[in-house]
Amino acid sequence: MAKFTVLNHPLIQHKLTIIRNKDTGTKVFREVANEIAELMVYEITRDLAMEDITIETPMGSAVEKQLSGKKLAVVPILRAGLGMVDGVLKLIPAAKVGHIGMYRDEKTLQPHEYFVKLPPDIDQRQLFIVDPMLATGGSAIMAIDALKKRGATSMRLVVLVAAPEGVKAVQDAHPDVDIYAAGLDDRLNEDGYIVPGLGDAGDRLFGTK
Ligand code: PRP
Ligand code: URA
Repeated sequence: MAKFTVLNHPLIQHKLTIIRNKDTGTKVFREVANEIAELMVYEITRDLAMEDITIETPMGSAVEKQLSGKKLAVVPILRAGLGMVDGVLKLIPAAKVGHIGMYRDEKTLQPHEYFVKLPPDIDQRQLFIVDPMLATGGSAIMAIDALKKRGATSMRLVVLVAAPEGVKAVQDAHPDVDIYAAGLDDRLNEDGYIVPGLGDAGDRLFGTK
């Protein structure tokens, strides 16, 4: 069974409260969502593989550490996932970026894939799939399906707010994909929105309705 982890860092929790607030406008919402993504990635990259390397400092030779293992990529689920990409890239500026376009039918809540564009060596990379909201889990499951179909084998799902229903659905469908959230909320309402949640993440990020 995949791990589900809520990142309880005080800065993450404080910033999550800011974007939950309905009075927070687009500009601040966008900035703070990226700041949370940055802090989350800092936390979830603690176990990245390292290797020794010999370098020359101005004072002489030294054996020091550098990252080893798989190269990284960030994969936002469009469109709201775009609101986390800059935060991730601040810490991992060399990461490649893949895009998966997915929208959820407002009535059926079923996800629909409309775009997939990935780095060619996706099978060699460790992926951070980012999407602010994990509600029913349908979009994340379909995005992971799309990635696996194209050869991806190593991925983590990073969300701002998760509903218990979505966590269980992703764990059942993809027991090899660990999930990280800034918050775990109570439930979904009858329209499939997370409660208390933060509303429609895409609309709040981009100022649409
Ligand atoms: C939102 C959100 C997730 C999805 C979550 O996207 O960003 O992708 O809903 O819901 P689920 O877990 O029930 O599938 P939406 O479909 O509203 O599209 P958008 O990002 O273009 O706003
Ligand atoms: N998508 C959102 O943007 N918000 C929710 O609460 C659920 C799905």
